Amino acid sequence: MPTRLYFDNAATSYPKPPCVIEAMMRYAGDLGVSARGAYAEVREVSRLVNLCRQRIATLIGARHADAPSHVIFTLNTTDAMNLAIHGLIGHALRTRPASRPVHIITSELDHNSALRPLNVLVERYGPRVRQTRVPFDPASGVLDPHAFERAITPDTVLAATLHASNVTGMIQPAGEIGAICRRHGVAFLLDAAQSLGHVPVDVDAMGVDLLAMPGHKGLLGPTGTGALYIRPGLERVMDTVREGGTGVRSELEAMPDFLPDRFEPGSHNTIGILGLSEAVQWILDQGLDRLRGHELELISVILAELTGPDAPPGLTLLGPGHPADAAARVGVFSFTCDHLDPATFGGMLETQFGVLSRSGLHCAPAAHATMGTGAAASADSSRPASSLGATRISIGPFTTRGDVAAALAAIRTIATEAAQLQLAK
Ligand SMILES: Cc1ncc(COP(=O)(O)O)c(C=O)c1O
Repeated sequence: MPTRLYFDNAATSYPKPPCVIEAMMRYAGDLGVSARGAYAEVREVSRLVNLCRQRIATLIGARHADAPSHVIFTLNTTDAMNLAIHGLIGHALRTRPASRPVHIITSELDHNSALRPLNVLVERYGPRVRQTRVPFDPASGVLDPHAFERAITPDTVLAATLHASNVTGMIQPAGEIGAICRRHGVAFLLDAAQSLGHVPVDVDAMGVDLLAMPGHKGLLGPTGTGALYIRPGLERVMDTVREGGTGVRSELEAMPDFLPDRFEPGSHNTIGILGLSEAVQWILDQGLDRLRGHELELISVILAELTGPDAPPGLTLLGPGHPADAAARVGVFSFTCDHLDPATFGGMLETQFGVLSRSGLHCAPAAHATMGTGAAASADSSRPASSLGATRISIGPFTTRGDVAAALAAIRTIATEAAQLQLAK
């Protein structure tokens, strides 16, 4: 078996900084208790859990004194998206006159973590919930903020979109969309699954009301961690989506009205959160500029190799690919090959070269449909189901130039051999 070369950081990052594993081992071995209760170990775990909130608040530019309490721990980005969407829309449906629809805006670029909860609301509530999906230009891979503005109606409650595409890696004009939403009094939910830990995120400067984030991708924490940041005041127009014990104010029949407890029933993923906390501190210590500098260097190398006249034969990178576009991207690259379907290409990368990639629709069916690599394209019955989507490679802070060179050589070999086989037919 060839050495494993991990190129699936967009799914979850690997490896994690050693301090993450150490913190989790320390918790498992020495502390091991819940964050709820009164004895000394509980107080220590509770302090460490809150320290993680504080570190996340620092990283996302939430500067108000109570910001850490507005960081709600979730299982992952998807869980945070569900809390934001169902919490906000559930409240709007309950409190607005029945005659008034609730309108939500998202985009064709978005991940199923936005699309599916919104689809469920439309299905469940019929005409009371209306959805607009803003299109994007497949050539630029970038959303037009004015399209969001044009879609806003007096009934619009929420605009939900992503900060960086998990298909093309293109960074979206989130700050401009946020400013438009703020001007129109529409809540803005940003999915930072592919951006946080890679590029700066400043919730205040970007007009973000709700930030959904994974703990386990760019933040370098363990799987099973994520968070939703809620702008102060917005919690008053959000329903809870899960209820239960909080260890405080247990005499109340209802959930407490203060954060984070209101949205965090049950025991925490303490071992995961303590690992995440060290990961966030590691990022703060390294400095995002330095981490971004390393990624930009690798992004430029990958773009130079996968695009232009010397690109591997038959290979097409989704989205713009000029090396000068490096700064407009995160380290996520999806490509198709004229002579091999994405699943076969990904399989060969693994079995022949140990390169771990991700093939398929990347939970972004509408994005792939827009780019001609989605289900609509496969309606052509001559294309097998495995032809859906693309093959994706994604880098992280521990990816080296040597790893990139090996992965790119593997891609070139596979594409060249496939082209030669095709010629020989
Ligand atoms: C843009 C985007 N949103 C949401 C998700 C879901 O992330 P999670 O696995 O943390 O729920 C992903 C990753 O898979 C993603 O790339």
